Amino acid sequence: MFKGLFQKPVYSMPSKVKMDTSGLDMSNIPEHIAIIMDGNGRWAKEQGKVRTFGHKAGAETLKKIVKAADALGIKAITAYAFSTENWKRPVTEVHFIMELLSRYLTSEIQEFKENNVQVRFMGSREGLPAIVNEKMDHAIEETKNDTGIILNLAINYGGQAEILHAVRSIARQVADGTLKIEDIDVPVFENNLYSKGLPSPDLMIRTGGDLRVSNFLLWQIAYAEIWTTSVYWPDFTPDMLIEAIKIYQKRERRFGGLVQK
Ligand code: IPE
Ligand code: IPE
Ligand code: MG
Repeated sequence: MFKGLFQKPVYSMPSKVKMDTSGLDMSNIPEHIAIIMDGNGRWAKEQGKVRTFGHKAGAETLKKIVKAADALGIKAITAYAFSTENWKRPVTEVHFIMELLSRYLTSEIQEFKENNVQVRFMGSREGLPAIVNEKMDHAIEETKNDTGIILNLAINYGGQAEILHAVRSIARQVADGTLKIEDIDVPVFENNLYSKGLPSPDLMIRTGGDLRVSNFLLWQIAYAEIWTTSVYWPDFTPDMLIEAIKIYQKRERRFGGLVQK
């Protein structure tokens, strides 16, 4: 099923990212950006190509955006790569994506290390091909001491599944007596989410034009600013990331309170 993997390095991280940061307030850069990388299939179809061509191009875009984000001082990117609902797609597309993930994690490790990128994952490991799980473990191990930007890849991720996972984990701790019901609060709950240790995203970007959350980070986006574009993910550029951040910088984040004028 995963034959043909690892024959040649297919990807390399672009060494320089061109972008225009004029007008950007460098003292108000979002720390954590979540991205719903949508529109790969439509991008490919519009060029008369198969959908999988778009996934390949999308993987290239992610590399550019991580590099740009790092250069801008963003601390973490959580990128939605494969949802718990994406298994509904034709088996050939699912296989392609799994193989692409596996290749990506193989070919990019060196670049990640050289660029001090720490790779993390969120999502359920169950149901993923063994090779993908192995590559994920390897990526974590190889980059765990990197102190630069965190690239948190959501793979086999669903917000509802994550919340259920946290509830089960908390219930087990209550059942075995290590946690009291009255001690369950927001920090305790967050410690049981896949995103444990990461602050909630300040900004969520969705490409591809749809105005929905598609089961991404249901808990964590409680107060995220949302920015969408109709541009398909493979066409997303560092300059568009800057545009999103500029809009973010104009927003007034109130968190339910009042901002003093
Ligand atoms: C997002 O692009 C990537 C994944 C869901 C894996 P899509 O594959 O959803 O592309 P569209 O939305 O069908 O164009
Ligand atoms: C969200 O996109 C999932 C990823 C980007 C991985 P989808 O294409 O799966 O979402 P829907 O089906 O349009 O809601
Ligand atoms: Mg889609």
